[in-house]
Amino acid sequence: MLLGFCLILYCADSQSKFSLEPSGSDVQKPDMAVKSDTSKHSMQWWRDARFGMFIHWGVFSVPAGYYNGKSVHGDFCDYSEWIMYNAKIPMAIYQVFAKQFNPVKFDADAWVKIAKDAGMKYIIITTKHHDGFAMFCSKVSKWNICDASPFGRDPLKELTAACNKYGIKLGFYYSQAQDWNNGGSVWGSWDGVTAWAGKKWDKAQERSMDDYIDRTAVPQVRELLTNYGDNIPAIIWWDTPFDMNRERAEKLNRVVQELKPGIIMNNRLGGGFKGDTETPEQYIPPKGYPGSDWETCMTMNDSWGYKRDDNNWKSTETLIRNLCDIASKGGNYLLNVGPTSEGLIPQPSLERLAEIGKWMRVNGEAIYGSGPTPFGNEAGRFSSTEKESNGQPKFIPAWDWRCTAKPGKIYLLIFQWPKNQKFELASFHGKITKAYLLTNHKDLKTEQTAAGVTVSLPAQAPDKFASVVCLEVVDKAAKEK
Ligand code: GLC
Repeated sequence: MLLGFCLILYCADSQSKFSLEPSGSDVQKPDMAVKSDTSKHSMQWWRDARFGMFIHWGVFSVPAGYYNGKSVHGDFCDYSEWIMYNAKIPMAIYQVFAKQFNPVKFDADAWVKIAKDAGMKYIIITTKHHDGFAMFCSKVSKWNICDASPFGRDPLKELTAACNKYGIKLGFYYSQAQDWNNGGSVWGSWDGVTAWAGKKWDKAQERSMDDYIDRTAVPQVRELLTNYGDNIPAIIWWDTPFDMNRERAEKLNRVVQELKPGIIMNNRLGGGFKGDTETPEQYIPPKGYPGSDWETCMTMNDSWGYKRDDNNWKSTETLIRNLCDIASKGGNYLLNVGPTSEGLIPQPSLERLAEIGKWMRVNGEAIYGSGPTPFGNEAGRFSSTEKESNGQPKFIPAWDWRCTAKPGKIYLLIFQWPKNQKFELASFHGKITKAYLLTNHKDLKTEQTAAGVTVSLPAQAPDKFASVVCLEVVDKAAKEK
């Protein structure tokens, strides 16, 4: 069971994957008393944004999944940013990669422009992943990009300037618990509950966790919260709270509350802190998290960090439909790129982002600031026979259409164009005043009967990924029976 739990946490490639809410009955729930105020003002921009870019970048982009000429695989995941753990690389050897980390092609302006052109409204970058390498000039530990690599520049400073220029919010991912080079946790116990006893593999890693928290994590978070201006970071994105107890988490939370009290935090700090956002990883929850803010983070291929032989790219169609699916359930999509050690976002990612951007320029109004569908069954159904590995009924998604809503408007995001050119919205009782495609805003014929509404569509789908019909409605109680 415990192994199953770990696999669910990390090796996410099916619907039931990563969840910070352990489902097994032998895993105690942490104290959830500290719930953030989801009505606080700082959430509004985040809720409107719906789409952001995750950037996993660090020294791990140098080995790019290979060690001693061999492709590295792990017990529970093959992510390239886990290479030090998976291959049990000694610190002194891993640290040589930093000497080869010289991303001279890194162009913060270009990266932010890529995100903006894709329709993304915010960026979260790994400022320190589990290998402990600070991607910023840190006075706290020499294991940082300015002191340990020939690059000698602070990418966060450059991204800050570019984000401010383009009006993109910037958030910082910080691995507060796991740190394999500064003596932090190594895949230890989860939130005070022993899930898996990770063992350090190099004597040089030995250090007390409290010392690491007090003298590395807390002061580095202080640096991150003070060195980049008033509005940056807008988000702090914690991860893998192994060995985090209440006291340790509290120390980090205290710095945040002292320096940036309005900041958005995800739910991975540990110690019972609920945070502001749920973070399903690599999957889209069947019904979202009604009443909570949530964000699905997802890779475009398999690995978060750059991995040179990872060519398992999701299609643009899948990515756009995922974005529609997530928005229709009231969530955000945090889509990852893993730049190379030269500082370049891989070409397949660029191509997909450009296509998504093209789609968003026409159809973005159905995504930004939208609320969840007033219907729901269009997303799929729970099977009455098939079960997930945890015994819960399996969710069978349907990929015909999705729906989002705004005051006075309903958006139908149509994936499967009806052959008979009629879109039937059964049991719709709101009054429609106008219907049109976002591609051309030309009036579409609608017919309303007691049974629902029929929208007459042109013969050809105007968009190969998802065509959006806007219905202007006066009755906001547009609900299925
Ligand atoms: C997991 C992995 C990590 C990745 C993260 C993204 O926690 O440990 O490598 O950064 O998920 O959500």
